[in-house]
Amino acid sequence: MQHLKSLCATLVLAAMTTSHAGEAPTVLITGANRGIGLELARQYAERGWHVIATARRPAAASALIQLAAAHPAVAIEPLDVTDAAGIAALAAKYRGQPIDVLINNAGITGKRGQRLGSLDYDDYRRVLETNTIAPLRVSEALLANVEASAQRKIVTISSSEGSIAQVNSPRGYAYRSSKAAVNMLMRNLAFDVAARGITVALVNPGPVDTDMMKGVPMPLQKPADAVAKVIAVVDRLTPDTTGRFWDYQGGEVPW
Ligand SMILES: NC(=O)c1ccc[n+]([C@@H]2O[C@H](COP(=O)([O-])OP(=O)(O)OC[C@H]3O[C@@H](n4cnc5c(N)ncnc54)[C@H](OP(=O)(O)O)[C@@H]3O)[C@@H](O)[C@H]2O)c1
Repeated sequence: MQHLKSLCATLVLAAMTTSHAGEAPTVLITGANRGIGLELARQYAERGWHVIATARRPAAASALIQLAAAHPAVAIEPLDVTDAAGIAALAAKYRGQPIDVLINNAGITGKRGQRLGSLDYDDYRRVLETNTIAPLRVSEALLANVEASAQRKIVTISSSEGSIAQVNSPRGYAYRSSKAAVNMLMRNLAFDVAARGITVALVNPGPVDTDMMKGVPMPLQKPADAVAKVIAVVDRLTPDTTGRFWDYQGGEVPW
């Protein structure tokens, strides 16, 4: 029994650290220049993965440039996730390149402090473009890359703010609805791509100390701690669990 357990652990470890033909796996991360995205890039790079780290303004992404200097397997690519032509150009550049794990991380909250009676609908549109439509567009554009890989995982960084079941006070119309909607899109996508062996997941990273949470009075995790937990969730994903909404602690978030 002990022997069987250690064999299983070895197989899981092998799946986490190798791709086709024993190659290191590849992860593509959107919004990788700061916050959770940067830490994802750092931790995957430290594991020896190939990292395609995308950023809106690569020239200004100093922390990412430093990371790439220390890890030659980190490639920095320009990508504004709301730019359809930019997504198409990225997909064209990487045509034929397997991507084991695609992480839709880029996100915005929109203007803070909006209340009923003074909602900014242009701002709302930007939030939906970034948090909801972009993850689907990026996933659609890179589907063949994910399908061609060994791990075949599409992960979207969602939020407990997108859990309708957990709402008990009014705030964040734009952000909350953008995350609830991306949850639905990804659940839908999970069914659409299951036959191609692709596993789709939503992951709530929990409250993390990034620019997004500046001034929010609540206990925050260090990005390194939160991201290690997110990656552990990603490692455990299997096709039979596709379409679920995971919490960084490993359980599931109510829809
Ligand atoms: N921090 C938390 O507590 C928390 C909790 C739950 C969920 N999340 C989710 O986690 C993800 C990362 O958040 P974070 O905390 O790391 O936030 P952050 O520190 O504000 O970083 C956001 C990242 O998204 C990028 N981004 C925004 N709009 C973009 C666009 N149009 N195209 C490309 N990149 C864009 C930013 O790039 P620029 O530098 O160019 O703006 C930045 O790299 C988001 O989806 C967020 O909703 C965060």
